[in-house]
Amino acid sequence: MDEERIEALRKELHQHNYNYYVLNEPTISDYDFDMKMRELQELEAMHPEWFDPNSPTQRVGSDLNQAFKQVTHKYPMLSLANTYSTEEVADFYQRVKSGLEGEDFEIVAEMKYDGLSISLTYIDGNLKQAVTRGDGVQGDDVTANVRTIRSIPLKLKEGSGYPHEFEIRGEILMPWTSFEALNREREAREETLFANPRNAASGTLKSQKSELVASRKLDAYLYYLLLPENSNTQPAQMDLFAETENNRLSINTHYDGLIMARKWGFKISEGMKKCHNLKEIIDFINYWDTERKNLPVATDGIVLKVNSLQQQNHLGYTAKSPRWAIAYKFKAERACTRLNEVTYQVGRTGAITPVANMDPVQLAGTTVRRASLHNAGVMKELDLHIGDMVYVEKGGEIIPKVVGVDIAQRKHDAQPVLFIDKCPECGTPLVRYDGEAAFYCPNDTGCPPQIKGKIEHFISRKAMNIDSLGPETIDDFYQRGLIHDVADLYTLSVAQISNNNKNRAVSATKAVEAIRASLSVPFERVVYAIGIRFVGETTAKLLARKFTSMESLQNATVSQLMQVDGVGEVIARSVVDFFANPVNREIIERLRLYGLTMKISEEQINNKSDMLAGQTIVISGVFRHHSRDEYKSMIEENGGKNSASISYKTSFILAGENMGPSKLEKANHLGVRIIEEEEFLEILNQRNVNTES
Ligand code: IVH
Repeated sequence: MDEERIEALRKELHQHNYNYYVLNEPTISDYDFDMKMRELQELEAMHPEWFDPNSPTQRVGSDLNQAFKQVTHKYPMLSLANTYSTEEVADFYQRVKSGLEGEDFEIVAEMKYDGLSISLTYIDGNLKQAVTRGDGVQGDDVTANVRTIRSIPLKLKEGSGYPHEFEIRGEILMPWTSFEALNREREAREETLFANPRNAASGTLKSQKSELVASRKLDAYLYYLLLPENSNTQPAQMDLFAETENNRLSINTHYDGLIMARKWGFKISEGMKKCHNLKEIIDFINYWDTERKNLPVATDGIVLKVNSLQQQNHLGYTAKSPRWAIAYKFKAERACTRLNEVTYQVGRTGAITPVANMDPVQLAGTTVRRASLHNAGVMKELDLHIGDMVYVEKGGEIIPKVVGVDIAQRKHDAQPVLFIDKCPECGTPLVRYDGEAAFYCPNDTGCPPQIKGKIEHFISRKAMNIDSLGPETIDDFYQRGLIHDVADLYTLSVAQISNNNKNRAVSATKAVEAIRASLSVPFERVVYAIGIRFVGETTAKLLARKFTSMESLQNATVSQLMQVDGVGEVIARSVVDFFANPVNREIIERLRLYGLTMKISEEQINNKSDMLAGQTIVISGVFRHHSRDEYKSMIEENGGKNSASISYKTSFILAGENMGPSKLEKANHLGVRIIEEEEFLEILNQRNVNTES
């Protein structure tokens, strides 16, 4: 019954995952998928005795902090020798040819994926372990994180003839679309952007929280199957193959291995091709040099591998890499053009970005006139002079960048480019904050791009969520002199917005209504919305809970602020400076007058909710922020039940430091989640916010 249903649902959901993430051919609606997933989650919750770490429900990850275990690779993870020219490819071809003493051979050409390598071990069709490359000898056990990657099968396809135990290696990547979306979100939160999808994938996979990994939508391509020679197929498959006299899995070539792996359920290299001569290889390279731009993930070259495993063995390895393979790296596209001027952009936080303005030049299919110089340090290193011939590249990054100067072409009287010391928009002397690469314009209340930026931030989804306004409308209002700061938004009338134009009355009414609706946005989001430098969403929440009203936040001292977890001196000073500025104080006063929420709600103060209803929680260890008794009452006030011993019924363990080893072992054995103190407080905090909004 239940057990059979669980098994059936797991199987079905694995298949749908495969159809969607590997084949790109879903056969079920998202809604139906979610319904089945929910049914499985409910059944699994009722039957913890049938827990399976490879159940499709485990793809969502957990918010448990995990320290990665170090694992020694069974076979070291080698790297490949790189080449950058087709001449070197020809040399490689010749080396293979002479190494094989005239034997015929094939070369498999495939994409070189630009992510981070991973080694996966499967036993009896189940994903057992996922380990990063590390130093090639030892890597991190990131199995929990890897389980959340939908294109990696947790269970292999039944009856597909996989071996009892094997290892397969490949690359974990963040697809371009996920990367761009992630950076957009980070930009909105004023967090540093990832330079390229590889860094983003690597940062994500190393995250301590698999839940975060699950949300980042990683992908994986597998390109290297390691089989013990002529390994036995798993017992269940023996019968299946007995009739065909093929009860031993015998794979002789790299290519066949990957085709097999595809049958077992893996996503393998796109456009893999067996080449029989050098020309075919060069054609493949040239074709993919442009075609790769249409792939969903980043690639940085072509890998060439001798196909026959026996020939691979014959050729062997150098100390670092196989002699039977080589990586041809695509050249980052580069152009040379004249630098005419350096201009400076002021971001909404006041950060100054130098921009090179150049003679137009064709690069990777687009005409480039401007390129980022990032910051003063990068600019200084390039030692730019006006009129210099500069090299511009478009690599993994999307925005072109200046990578060098052809000094030989510099005129003797060329003027060096010096970084500005005043804001190009408002003339205020620039400042530099401790530990920051950028210079800033500190005039955050009087510098036009900063004012507009602040208003855009104020209306954004996670702040006041005034979604019927956008950057263009804000710019329009500002140009027309209707708004000078965020408080002005609350004075706008339909007539003003529409400029008494009847055709614009409907949208103007919508805008006014949306502005009014924002009055009910809870306090912590108001704290975020007012745009204190360095105060992101999480810090805003923490500050709101600690100080409970705008008034006490306004009067907080640096040392009081620093008592809040995660608030260091830089943030604390920024808060104090913000409120010390009379312009900001006046804006806050007006916002209060217009009716914005200026204090935390009663329920939040009392920390009461029913969010822990139905949950049985065990407290263990020594705590830092509250006493055990305080935690016990918090659990009860939020509808949860305290229990002294761990059992199947335990929903989670609230763990402080030095949790007893026997408890830890029992928790691991029963698969009970362990939640640390800070995280528990954050959960209470967040859910209280959620129930509010
Ligand atoms: S084969 C022993 N194939 O490139 C050979 N590697 O320096 C094992 N890579 O660390 C690697 N795409 O992370 C192979 N199609 C591909 C690849 C590939 C990307 C990465 C891999 C490796 C590095 C080689």
